[in-house]
Amino acid sequence: MIVVFGSVNIDLVCRTDHHPRPGETVPGSDYQLIPGGKGANQALAARRAGASVAMVGAVGDDDMAAAALAELTSAGVDLSALVRRGPTTGMAIITVDRHGENTIVLSPGANARLAHTDLAALSLGANDIVLLQMEVPLAESLAAAQAARAAGARIMLSIAPFLPVEREALAMADIILVNETEAADLARHLGLAAGPDGAATVATLAASLGRTVIATLGADGAVAAGGGETIAVPSLPIEPVDTTGAGDTFAGVLAAYLDRGESLETAMLYAAVAGSLACTKMGAQPSFPQKDAIEEAADRPPSAA
Ligand code: RIB
Repeated sequence: MIVVFGSVNIDLVCRTDHHPRPGETVPGSDYQLIPGGKGANQALAARRAGASVAMVGAVGDDDMAAAALAELTSAGVDLSALVRRGPTTGMAIITVDRHGENTIVLSPGANARLAHTDLAALSLGANDIVLLQMEVPLAESLAAAQAARAAGARIMLSIAPFLPVEREALAMADIILVNETEAADLARHLGLAAGPDGAATVATLAASLGRTVIATLGADGAVAAGGGETIAVPSLPIEPVDTTGAGDTFAGVLAAYLDRGESLETAMLYAAVAGSLACTKMGAQPSFPQKDAIEEAADRPPSAA
């Protein structure tokens, strides 16, 4: 089983031609309320890719909670360990420009009240993969990772959004996931020189940490380094509509295929395809592909993509 310990948000999304500069007001589209949150996104992406998934997260005592959980509920993610804590559900205020690039301001709400002890509602073992991100309190995520590791579970740590995680804490992870910016931030934080590109930085990080490090590189696919091996996989050639949640899709789908026993390279191939497909529709969760769509797109010749 895949267990996600992390955030649940409602995303308030507005499209605009360009992002406002400080002090500028720009016209936008009608807003949409869309389920999101990096934790919930990764849980849904893994579930849509065919995995059994449980979500350990927190929502508030407000009307947003049901909307935030709608996709997880209808997809059959196990919510038995989900808690209701405090007055408000996490909300991400997102603007998406004409290039599909976003800005996000996050009001954490109940995510700030998630505790590592909430993980104890599930019994973990060596067959489980636990996925964590950085939108709930870092100390709680690290304590949850420690408990999961003690139970023998594999740990995937997504350093998104970037937080300065210490070397000893990173050592708990079997796989560390970053994007290109997070890779450079992490290298700087650890006193390492970031490379000229994502692949070089990932190689430096993997060698220094002794862990598998994977970076998503947007249109350039993804690259992994670890154990003396480097793996690079391509993205699909797409016109991005909205990149929100693409990294989360990669993480969830990667976990789903690893959980199924696929090699790291195969899991990365499907994850990169899924991440690309997630950029072709508005919003985070509504854009996440089902297993059949991922595998069909992965098998299609490049010219037909
Ligand atoms: O990674 C995308 C997610 O980040 C959005 O769904 C939003 O909730 C923010 O947490």
